[in-house]
Amino acid sequence: MEKRLVDMLRGYTCSDSLPMHMPGHKRNPKFDWLVPLGEALDITEIYGFDDLNDPEGIFQNLGLLAADACGSELAIPMVNGSTGGILAAVKAALPHREAMLIARNCHKAVYNAGELFADDIEFAMPAFSDRWGICGSITPEQVKNALEEHGDIKLVAITSPTYEGIISDIGAISEVCHRYGAVLLVDQAHGAHLGFGGFPERATKLGADIVVESLHKTLPSLTQTALLHLSGNLVDPSELKRCAAIFQSSSPSYLLSASVDGCVRFLTEHGDAEADSWLKNLRDFYKAAESLTRLKVMNPEEPDAAFFKHDPSKILISCADADISGPELMERLRDEFKIELEMASAEYVLAMTGMGDTKESLRRLFTALTSIDRGLKPSSRVRGVFSLCLPERDMPINEALIKDKIDVPMSAAAGRTAGEYVWTYPPGIPMIVPGEKVDERMLQLFSNLRCDGVILRSTSGKVPQFLRCLDNSKSF
Ligand SMILES: Cc1ncc(COP(=O)(O)O)c(C=O)c1O
Repeated sequence: MEKRLVDMLRGYTCSDSLPMHMPGHKRNPKFDWLVPLGEALDITEIYGFDDLNDPEGIFQNLGLLAADACGSELAIPMVNGSTGGILAAVKAALPHREAMLIARNCHKAVYNAGELFADDIEFAMPAFSDRWGICGSITPEQVKNALEEHGDIKLVAITSPTYEGIISDIGAISEVCHRYGAVLLVDQAHGAHLGFGGFPERATKLGADIVVESLHKTLPSLTQTALLHLSGNLVDPSELKRCAAIFQSSSPSYLLSASVDGCVRFLTEHGDAEADSWLKNLRDFYKAAESLTRLKVMNPEEPDAAFFKHDPSKILISCADADISGPELMERLRDEFKIELEMASAEYVLAMTGMGDTKESLRRLFTALTSIDRGLKPSSRVRGVFSLCLPERDMPINEALIKDKIDVPMSAAAGRTAGEYVWTYPPGIPMIVPGEKVDERMLQLFSNLRCDGVILRSTSGKVPQFLRCLDNSKSF
């Protein structure tokens, strides 16, 4: 008989597997408010317990505390993740369905919001670091050029830090946005810990108008919890609150809410000290990792022309110079060392640390990497195409979505107009979006990723055999 999910969860979490993935509490029992959150504390909006979507009591205070701890003017606790926060932010910032600019390396949630609430979407492509095989920062110049070229853009959405920890110059980008009257939305889903202790500054303190952050990704709070922040006067606070309530359940979980409450209070009292001790452990790890010979750990202090700054909590381990692919390295860490990583791409793996990590957890990761590294030989692979580039656009996303489509064998898709999104998950960044022209380079990228064991996903679920494209036999 198929196992029940609850038994699978118990089996994994009670094993001695080391979680180098989200959520950030890492099941560390020192975050004692998380431990009792089960059915015994599960209630609904009864007298005296306030309503997360219409806060007047404890949730109102929680919002004030969160705004104060995170440096925003308004903080809205969310139990539908950054996904809900992003939907609410885009809806509130584009009351007349104006155009928006999306950094091409944004998460699907931003594209979904754009599809729902923007009349037109322009893209800004971040620089690419060939050294590490990842997207870099979005520059203020790129944003300025886009705003100059498309005078109707009202909202700019960028991800900082990215999944791999790359930070953009939010201070300068917010100045540019405001000069052109555009709202800056920063998807800081992976950076709720920023600004605490010696971590790089958070977007709420650098001029961003709306900042969305997932508490669960790096901090001690349960999965699905987030904060939606507002500052400045470009977006109406009551409209943002209304939109936040649209995108979460009308029965927001008290268990999730209690985990936000505990997390925010903990940050207020211990945030800086805890962040500094985490940072010290990370610095020790990075120092030790310099001894690896074939595997290369990206050092946050090392400059790269494609990066403005780097959040050290994400540990990126490149295997581009070794005879092992990312998925193979991930599998060896799992099978031989019981370490479960966050993700693997063709040429690197990502270990995601959180406030719940300890000196010992990082030591265990380092020891395992050292042991694997010793047996690796130099790479004999020919490096393929792994960088994203902006495809030519035949039509806007919304127009492509409503056209007739057919499933075309992937090998015959070059030159067609894509009718669906294709991405890898994680990180959930679309590589091609509906309305874009499929070209040979994109097909080569898909093929290289697949050869290295990376799983491609698409809206139709038919990739990699077929790609859903517009039906050319129907006239547009
Ligand atoms: C960059 C980014 N933004 C937003 C999200 C959505 O966050 P959540 O899972 O809290 O809804 C994710 C999810 O992984 C993400 O990676």
